[in-house]
Amino acid sequence: MAHTQVLFLLFCEVANMGDIRLEGVEIPARFPEGFLFGGATSDFQYEGGFGEGGRGILSQDFVTTGDVDHDRQITWVMPDGTRGASPYRASLPQGAEPALFDDVYYPSHQAVDFYHHFKEDIALMGEMGFRVFRFPTCWSRVFPTGDELEPNQEALDFYEAVIDECLAHGIEPLITICHDELPDHLRKAYDGWSSRHVVDCYVRFARALFERLGHKVKYWLTFNEINAVAGYAQVGVHDFDNPQVHYQAKHHMFLASARTIKLGRELCPGAVFGTMFALSEIYPATCKPEDVFAAYAKRRESLFFVDVMARGAYPNYAHEIFERKGVRVHMEPGDEELLAAYPLDFVSFSYYRSTVASAESTFDIMGGEPNPYLPVTAWKMPIDPLGLRYCLNELYDRYQKPLFVIENGLGAVDEPDAAGRIHDTYRMRYLADHLKQIRDAITIDHVDCFGYTMWGPVDLVSLGTGEMKKRYGFIYVDMDDRGQGTKARSKKDSFDWSCT
Ligand code: BG6
Repeated sequence: MAHTQVLFLLFCEVANMGDIRLEGVEIPARFPEGFLFGGATSDFQYEGGFGEGGRGILSQDFVTTGDVDHDRQITWVMPDGTRGASPYRASLPQGAEPALFDDVYYPSHQAVDFYHHFKEDIALMGEMGFRVFRFPTCWSRVFPTGDELEPNQEALDFYEAVIDECLAHGIEPLITICHDELPDHLRKAYDGWSSRHVVDCYVRFARALFERLGHKVKYWLTFNEINAVAGYAQVGVHDFDNPQVHYQAKHHMFLASARTIKLGRELCPGAVFGTMFALSEIYPATCKPEDVFAAYAKRRESLFFVDVMARGAYPNYAHEIFERKGVRVHMEPGDEELLAAYPLDFVSFSYYRSTVASAESTFDIMGGEPNPYLPVTAWKMPIDPLGLRYCLNELYDRYQKPLFVIENGLGAVDEPDAAGRIHDTYRMRYLADHLKQIRDAITIDHVDCFGYTMWGPVDLVSLGTGEMKKRYGFIYVDMDDRGQGTKARSKKDSFDWSCT
């Protein structure tokens, strides 16, 4: 059987499993007409091309590899020349300046080299029947320092070529304008998103994209996981652990998003705009009222970001969060009106796991307590397909806006057999289980969900650990944790899923 439409067939297969039937409810044989299925990537995990095409230095370029037990590090140097390194999401010590060392491997520099493989990769996505490909535009490729007045045309040429390749294969491009990064210069000169000046830089970046690429792109995301990004590498802010600095920086990101939507509506009629949120579901550890309320409050720390951006206003409970954390967000005249006038058209989110909170929990947004009812992956992520249906329902109840599951997938160790083939039935099972829950949310619960992009269709570098060993793809990349390998692409069993 030809591989074209494989994913379309996958949907039929998943939808026809028919394991959940309700009396009198017709379950359509497959996902709704026009549902967008495809894959998602980030530039510093996938693109590579460091130092090529006029690309400037990115905040993510200083990040090393780690593993499941060891944090990735940001390497730095003190004014006296002392070398050091700090955990990925932590603040750097006072006086430390991020620095690159010749004897350290930095995965973002080559990533898996989409820069030179994009035609091959997109052709493979086309062969699988992808209808959408989500990728980001690297900020320091388009504006090498972030402060230029004019964009780097070579970067725009590259992204236009990527888009044209997608369109030639019948794939809708979906662009994340900024995926957890910023040009290093904006950190150094302005302390990143703590400065309102960076809002102007970001909007100039968005304008350059809209003017050059807007007529070919319908779907845009202003930010990736805006509720979760933290620290030097993702937001370029020195003292980000300080709640005052944190929420002020996020306010600037809200403004940047709203101004970009305003601009996008002017320059790209017909385009739609979202932002992406990390929204693992949170369950109470017990039915003790204190645990239930604590889990609810913890959930709102993430939904706060969706509330501001989808409803266009800071929610009532923001007062409680800000009073408890000693935060006073500085707003200028017109800020609130701007947020109210330009809310998101749709809500997109990543879903990899659910988590558990109790009245005693102290974890931040990325943590959580174990759930004894769920299996976990090799990277200790609980696997919870039903939590995705819960999440879709919760978000649709709350916002009544179209939803897009923009990241989901299984990070696993893939061991090639003697012939070099990966038999990843575990990945097919994981994806099928999650797709079934999306189908049920749409067909049984009548949630408006219009797309799904699985994370990393071509194996790429892990964000959390910087490893290659943690693979998500349908397509294997010959490369190890140290960046060694041919980078040749090959199909896993999951690629041929419906053909077996
Ligand atoms: C999301 C990010 O948090 O999770 C991606 O948007 C990331 O950039 C993905 O890769 C999976 O996480 P990890 O750590 O397995 O790469």
